[in-house]
Amino acid sequence: MKILVINGPNLNLLGVREREIYGEKSYDELCRYIEDCGREAGAECVLFQSNHEGAIVDRIQAALGAEDAIVINPAAYTHTSIAILDALRAVSLPAVEVHLSRIEDRESFRRISFTALACEKTITGKGFEGYREAILYLTHRG
Ligand code: DQA
Repeated sequence: MKILVINGPNLNLLGVREREIYGEKSYDELCRYIEDCGREAGAECVLFQSNHEGAIVDRIQAALGAEDAIVINPAAYTHTSIAILDALRAVSLPAVEVHLSRIEDRESFRRISFTALACEKTITGKGFEGYREAILYLTHRG
């Protein structure tokens, strides 16, 4: 099984940005962690990060026929992007949304997730572990 793991804007600055919220570890460390989780689950994780909404839409479209499932942390686009929601619906691959922080306990504008409407499950507030849970969910859902 091939799982596309998408990380949205500013997640490339993990370990630098708001460390009290997102932790000390870097995006490279997150990538290695995700690849290890994929190996543990018997899946291949294909990593993609972009700060650009259209690039994320293009990558989701390119998953059709290339990957079997999607894990996505759309970052700030979670709360604004109908385009990413529509792309996820268009490819209709099983998808799980992940957030490092507990978005439901933060500013009110973070409580709305458009993209979660196209996802089977949303995992928040578990840091890197959320990606592991998402990968295990997708590999076990049959
Ligand atoms: C985030 C939460 C979003 O609200 C925020 O814009 C991010 C990261 C998270 O992983 O907790 O950039 O998606």
